[in-house]
Amino acid sequence: MTATPARERTVHHAEATDGPWWRHAVIYQVYPRSFADSNGDGIGDLPGITARLDHLVELGVDALWLSPFYVSPQADAGYDVADYRDVDPVFGTLDDIDALLDKAHRLGLRVVVDLVPNHTSDEHIWFAAARAAAPGSPERARYLFREGRGQHGELPPNNWQSMFGGPAWTRVMEADGRPGQWYLHLFDTKQPDLDWSNPQVRAEFEDVLRFWLDRGVDGFRVDVAHGLVKADGLPDWAGAVTMIDGSDPVDDGTDPNVHNGPMFDQEGVHDVYRAWRTVLDSYPGDRAMVAEAWVEPLERLARYVRPDEMHQAFNFSFLSAGWDPLALRSVIDRSFAANDAVGAPTTWVLSNHDVVRHASRLGLSDPTHRPNGIGHGDEQPDAELGLRRARAASLLVLALPGSAYLYQGEELGLPEHTALPDELRQDPTYTRTDGVERGRDGCRVPLPWEQHAPAFGFSPNGASWLPQPAGWGGFTVDAQRGRPGSTYETYRSALRLRREHRLATGDLTWLPSDPQVLELTNRTVLVVANMGPTAVELPVGARVLLSSDAAQSGTVVAPATTVWAELG
Ligand code: NOJ
Repeated sequence: MTATPARERTVHHAEATDGPWWRHAVIYQVYPRSFADSNGDGIGDLPGITARLDHLVELGVDALWLSPFYVSPQADAGYDVADYRDVDPVFGTLDDIDALLDKAHRLGLRVVVDLVPNHTSDEHIWFAAARAAAPGSPERARYLFREGRGQHGELPPNNWQSMFGGPAWTRVMEADGRPGQWYLHLFDTKQPDLDWSNPQVRAEFEDVLRFWLDRGVDGFRVDVAHGLVKADGLPDWAGAVTMIDGSDPVDDGTDPNVHNGPMFDQEGVHDVYRAWRTVLDSYPGDRAMVAEAWVEPLERLARYVRPDEMHQAFNFSFLSAGWDPLALRSVIDRSFAANDAVGAPTTWVLSNHDVVRHASRLGLSDPTHRPNGIGHGDEQPDAELGLRRARAASLLVLALPGSAYLYQGEELGLPEHTALPDELRQDPTYTRTDGVERGRDGCRVPLPWEQHAPAFGFSPNGASWLPQPAGWGGFTVDAQRGRPGSTYETYRSALRLRREHRLATGDLTWLPSDPQVLELTNRTVLVVANMGPTAVELPVGARVLLSSDAAQSGTVVAPATTVWAELG
């Protein structure tokens, strides 16, 4: 290689100013039940999070996103909300969330909360009223109740399947004790879908937004953002749900089965977000929304982040590209093209509470495969290779312009729990698919904090709602803090350098490289991600700033390694 590498193509230009926080933030996902348990019931809680906020400051993130902590029967770990304006006792109280917000803000951290508008819990007062009311009543009209097909209404109203397996419809008993109408639930039976054509539903959620904005939250992560509005008449669908919760997507933008059925990505959904944007904009302080929308191609997804809609959308196409340099390069290009066209920041994400952790996923023999959980009898990932690739992938993410999402534990290199006893599994997917899908419990295991404490410091007494693997001592924060080259210290360095070099608002230029190597510059930083089988050399004069390889020596970039360097 030469001292000044030839530039190939600039795919994103640096921004003149950094702009509002959400254009460049690193946002850390806290999964409340598994972050830190303060009271010893084995389930993480809000006081536990507040007590550990210093960790996020030490790590160097800008914001946290809290998965749901609202009143809920926990049929889908809180994504089944029974009261949108209160905290579930398992997680604490409204005073606890106020204290969390207060401390986070004092520490300079923004707080994004989850909003679940596609469905409520079946234990929400609206649904209890709907069940008790008659067909055709205003109470039923807030949900999607329909008559069944067949001679006696004994067949579901259409052929839609639940995202968790099984039919998307459940039949209710009417007041006369006979089976009656059916209601739609794209997820579990206990998660009835709301009817977003009903003005009461719209008014209610605008009020919920205000409730949390008034309490001081900095934004919302919007669950199933592409699902609120269904096609008129709820027509049958010939396609299959192929993306959410672990199944394998096809990301060339042409697969007609990728989430474009009549239940997703309907035009009307954008009106909802335009209205919400007006609400957010009426508050001071750059409040923001991020769409959880499994929509492809990326141009379609970018419609959610047009200037008068949401601020960000999770880039699941990137998450789905696995460990494939061509696919990654292509998705990075397409992400910038689509988002730049609407003036929105691109986001980057590798893990969350719905997918196999990337330290395990990337250790599978096919590292683009996305199984929905891993269990006994399944292929077990190569842990060493997986972690090595995960660290390299994370350094790629953190070098890219835009906003990055981290999932709790990835800064520790945490793997999936791939050997959970099946009888402990709690994800409804597991039971709804008769165990065919292992489900998402393996990425939700409580965090290990301290090597020599009960439950690795997750709880005061060793209680833990899912067991942590015995070998997790080396992953704890205290085992990694101050150890050069540990995953934790590597993330800390990356976040510091990302800030110092203003990478999040920088540019992206590809350099010519071996097809197995991603080589780019962002401002003055050279990034080389070697995904091939042989080592490559940095250009002459390059000075290594950071490497994902703990054994980095000189200017050689080993296989499965990402290096950040400054050009001499
Ligand atoms: C997406 C959430 O991330 C997932 O955990 C949940 O099960 C579904 N939406 C349904 O709310």
